[in-house]
Amino acid sequence: MKIRKAVIPAAGLGTRFLPVTMSVPKELLPIIDRPQLQYVIAEAVEAGVEEVIIVTSPEKESITDYFRPHLELEQRLADNGEQALLDRVTEAGNMARVSFVVQHEALGLGHAVLMAKDAVGDEPFVVILPDDIISQAPGAHTPGAIAQMVQVSERVGGGVIAVEESPWEVIHNYGVVAGTPVSDPASHGRIVKIEGLVEKPAREQAPSNLTIVGRYILPPEIFGLLERTEPGAKGEIQLTDGLLALIQDHDLFAYRFDGKRFDGGTPMGLLRASLAFALDRDDTREDALAILREFQDSTSETA
Ligand code: G1P
Repeated sequence: MKIRKAVIPAAGLGTRFLPVTMSVPKELLPIIDRPQLQYVIAEAVEAGVEEVIIVTSPEKESITDYFRPHLELEQRLADNGEQALLDRVTEAGNMARVSFVVQHEALGLGHAVLMAKDAVGDEPFVVILPDDIISQAPGAHTPGAIAQMVQVSERVGGGVIAVEESPWEVIHNYGVVAGTPVSDPASHGRIVKIEGLVEKPAREQAPSNLTIVGRYILPPEIFGLLERTEPGAKGEIQLTDGLLALIQDHDLFAYRFDGKRFDGGTPMGLLRASLAFALDRDDTREDALAILREFQDSTSETA
């Protein structure tokens, strides 16, 4: 089934990016020249999404501001014949219909998703965590992660969440799934039927090393379940706990997507993402390579 709507929770405090997040939401921090939020929206649009619902907090007006028309600037660029710049300025607003809902209390990811209940209505949708930036292999023509998941959802029928294999030492930072591999030749062993999920388990308690990456195709029934979900890990209403309730009556699959995930929620993760995207972009590749060579030379000189 076509997935028309995406929910992007963007109300978090961004503590790992303090102090810059005192005034700039981490979702607006750039990868090269665009906010990281724009990359995940582009990934959704590529998968056929037409409407994006961003869940913000009252302090994050600058996110709303980014997507509004900037008429004066647009007029000035148009008058000066600066079409390339004008295209950049209007790009974000033209990608999809963007609307906002405000989460007034930081009660957890499950609660943030619940805020979008009315905006989503009675249809399957995708949840995208904007911290998780996913790139394709340089030069590859593989579809983005969400587009891959939509295809999987159409083949196997049911909800699909993205996972990756993680080192056991970092398991406690993630949601973890357990399940049985699905025999689907087209997916090359990448699909697991989920039988259990746990949010941020201790290594000893983790049922596998398949950790959840922030992309979820979900049926609308998740909203009713989130309304009944009690606070879990960190005292917050966890999306993972809602998913655990969902699998009692619905098929949910974990999909090891083809692509590379970067943790855009941390300074070093964003730096890595910036380098990866700069190396992948025709207009920045040469400069990025030169920078890498420069640093390599200077570190080998000091070694
Ligand atoms: C959230 C989810 C977690 C998932 C992670 C991926 O955690 O709760 O299940 O593995 O995103 O980035 P957070 O990073 O918000 O603590």
